Amino acid sequence: MEPTVEVVKSDVLVVGGGMAGCGAAYEAKYWGKNLRVVLVEKAATERSGAVAQGLSAINTYLGQRWGEKTPEDFVRYVRTDLMGIVREDLVYDVARHVDSSVHLFEEWGLPIWKTDEGKYVREGPWQIMINGESYKPIVAEAAKTAIGAENLYERVIVTHLLNDPNDPGRVAGAVGFSVRENKFYVFQAKSVIVTCGGATLLFRPRSVGEGLGRTWYAIFDTGSTFAMMAQVGAEMTQMENRFIPSRFKDGYGPVGAWFLLLKSTATNAYGENYMVTQADELKKYEPYGSAKPTPTPLRNHLMLTDILAGKGPIYMRTDEALARLSGGDKKKLRSLESEAWEDFLDMTISQAGLWAAQNIAPEEQPSEITLAEPYIMGSHSGCAGMWVSGPEDIAPPEYFWGYNRMTTVKGLFTAGDGVGAAPHKFSSGSFTEGRLAAKAAVQYCADHPGEIAVDQDKVNALQAEIFKPFETFEKNQGASTTPEINPKYLLPKAGLTRLQKIMDDYAAGSGTWYRTNEPMLTRGLELLGALKEDLNNAMAARNLHELLRCWELVHRTWTAESHVRHMLHRKETRWPGYYYRTDFPDVDDANWRKFVNSKFDPATGAWEMGTKPYLQLVP
Ligand code: FAD
Ligand code: ADX
Repeated sequence: MEPTVEVVKSDVLVVGGGMAGCGAAYEAKYWGKNLRVVLVEKAATERSGAVAQGLSAINTYLGQRWGEKTPEDFVRYVRTDLMGIVREDLVYDVARHVDSSVHLFEEWGLPIWKTDEGKYVREGPWQIMINGESYKPIVAEAAKTAIGAENLYERVIVTHLLNDPNDPGRVAGAVGFSVRENKFYVFQAKSVIVTCGGATLLFRPRSVGEGLGRTWYAIFDTGSTFAMMAQVGAEMTQMENRFIPSRFKDGYGPVGAWFLLLKSTATNAYGENYMVTQADELKKYEPYGSAKPTPTPLRNHLMLTDILAGKGPIYMRTDEALARLSGGDKKKLRSLESEAWEDFLDMTISQAGLWAAQNIAPEEQPSEITLAEPYIMGSHSGCAGMWVSGPEDIAPPEYFWGYNRMTTVKGLFTAGDGVGAAPHKFSSGSFTEGRLAAKAAVQYCADHPGEIAVDQDKVNALQAEIFKPFETFEKNQGASTTPEINPKYLLPKAGLTRLQKIMDDYAAGSGTWYRTNEPMLTRGLELLGALKEDLNNAMAARNLHELLRCWELVHRTWTAESHVRHMLHRKETRWPGYYYRTDFPDVDDANWRKFVNSKFDPATGAWEMGTKPYLQLVP
C-alpha cells in the first residue's frame, strides 16, 4: 500500500533530538521567536541518543565563574589530547560558552554535586559530578517546551537531505518516514541543522551472540549525520579519526570516574601499572608523549602494548582504590561503594547488571577493562565530522565562510558529533554547539527570507527508493524456504554483519588490534563498493522496523567508506592506540600536521581528497 505523504514546512529544521539537537531547538526559538522551528527525532526525544540512559558526570565544565579554567587552557588540553590537530577556533568557541549551558541544566532541575562552599564537585580538571539518570528528559523537556509539541516529530527517521533545485549548493529540507505508521515525510526548510550523533557498529563489536547490540556509544547513532551531509556534497574532515574507548569489559562501563574521582590505577594481570612500566613507549611520540595528562590514544597504546606482550587481562584495581580512599573507615567505604554502583546505574546499567551476574563486589576484587571496537564521532575523544565555518570573531579566513557551524553546503549546519576537528565537547559541549549552530541558522533565515523550492520529481524518486526494500522482499520471498537467507535479497542484519566483517578485517578493527596498511584498506574499499551495490539493488525489509534498519545500514556504510578513504589518504600513524598504519608507523608532524578533508560530488559520484592547514591560534 502506498504510504500517505505529509509535507512539513519550517524555517529551521533540526534533525536528531539528542544533546546537540535539543540545544539547537532551544536556541533557535530563543533567537527566532517568529520562526517555525521543527525537530525530527527517530526515537522518543525524552530517552534518545547517547544520553538516553543518563550520565554520571558532565565532562566539559570550565568553572570560569570561580576562576578555575580558561578557554585557552581548554584549547591546549584538547589540542594535545588529539595529538596536535584540532580546529582551535571551534574548540575555543565551545569552551567560552559551555558553562552557561551547564547553568541552564541546573536551573531546569539537573542535580549537580556540590562542595560545602557551594562549588560543583569536580570529577577531574574538566569534569563535574551529577546525579544524571534524568539528564536527557530534563534537556528534552526544555527543547520541547521552547518549540511547542506540535513542532516535534518523533518516531520519524530522516534518510536524505534535499537540495534547492535553483541552487544545488544550498539545502532545502529533508525526507524520511515514520517508523510506526505507513507515512512518508517531506520537510521543507530554509536552514537545516543535522545533529544525528556519531556512528556505532560499523565495526564488528566485541559483543557477540546474546550480547549483540551491547555497545559503548548509542546504538541508535548510525552515521546518519555524516552520510546524509556527505551525499549532498558537504566537505568532511578528519573522518580517518576514531575513538577507541577503554571500557569495563563486556558491559562497556566508563572508566573516567574510576581514574579521576576514585583515583584508581589499572594494571596488567601481574600487577604492573602499564602507565609506568611501558612509559618508554611514550618517548617515540614526543612532544605528545610527555604531555600531562597523557593523550587518550597514547594511554590506549600503553595498555595495548601490555596486552600484545601477553600480560592480560588488564584490571581496574577498584578494590585497592576503594580501600585507599576509605582509609579503613567502614562507613566511608560503604558510601564509596554506592557511588561506584551509582556511576554505572546512572549511565551504563548493563555494567551494574554484569557485576551482579558475575558476583563482582568492586570493593573486594578488581574488574577487567579492555579496548573496545572503533567509534566514529566528533564529540568525545574523537574528532571525525564535517568541515564547518568557525565564529566570525576568532576564526581565521581559512576557517570562515559566513555562518558559524555551517558546512560547505549553504544553509546546512551541524553540531555535536557532526562537527569535525573539535573534540571533547561531550554532553554539555554538544548542547552548547547546537545552540551556536542554531543562532547562526536563524541569522541565515533572516538573510534569506525567500521561499525555498523543492524538486518534486526528486522527492518522488526518493520516496520510491526509500520504500523499495518492501517490494524487493515481496517479489522474492518465495526464492528460499527461510526468509533470513535468500539469493535475491539482503535483510539488514545480514548486511550489517557483512559491513562489520569488512571493517574489522581490513580497516583496523579490534580483530587486528587496530592495524592496517594501504593494500588492506584498498581491498576493504573494493568490498565496501560491492556491499554498496548490493544495498542499492537488493536490500529487503519485512516491516517498518527493518526498513529503519535498512537505512541505518546505508548510513553506516557511507560513513565506513569515508573512514576508509580518509585512512588511505593520511600516510602516517597520527593516533597510536586508535589505529596504526603499519606502512607508515610514525607520527609525522613535518608532513601531516594538517587536516585530511574529503568531498563527495553528487553529480559525478566521485570523491575528492585533500588537506587543509592546521593553524595554531592559542599559544
Ligand atoms: P546524541 O546525543 O547521541 O543525539 C543524536 C540523536 O539523533 C539521537 O537522539 C538519535 O536518536 C537521533 N538520530 C540519529 N539518526 C537519526 C536519523 N536518521 N533521523 C532522526 N533522528 C536521528 N558526556 C558527558 O558529558 N559526561 C559523561 O559522563 C558521558 N558519558 C557517556 C557515557 C556513555 C555510555 C555515552 C554513550 C556517552 C557519554 N557521554 C558523556 C557523551 C555524550 O553523551 C555525547 O557527547 C553527546 O550526547 C553527543 O551529542 P549529539 O547530539 O551529537 O548526539
Ligand atoms: S564517558 O564519556 O563514557 O564517561 P570516560 O569514562 O572515558 O567517558 O571519560 C570521562 C572523562 O574522563 C573524559 O573527559 C575523559 O577524557 C576523562 N578521562 C578518562 N580516563 C582518564 C585518564 N586516565 N586520565 C585523564 N582523563 C581521563
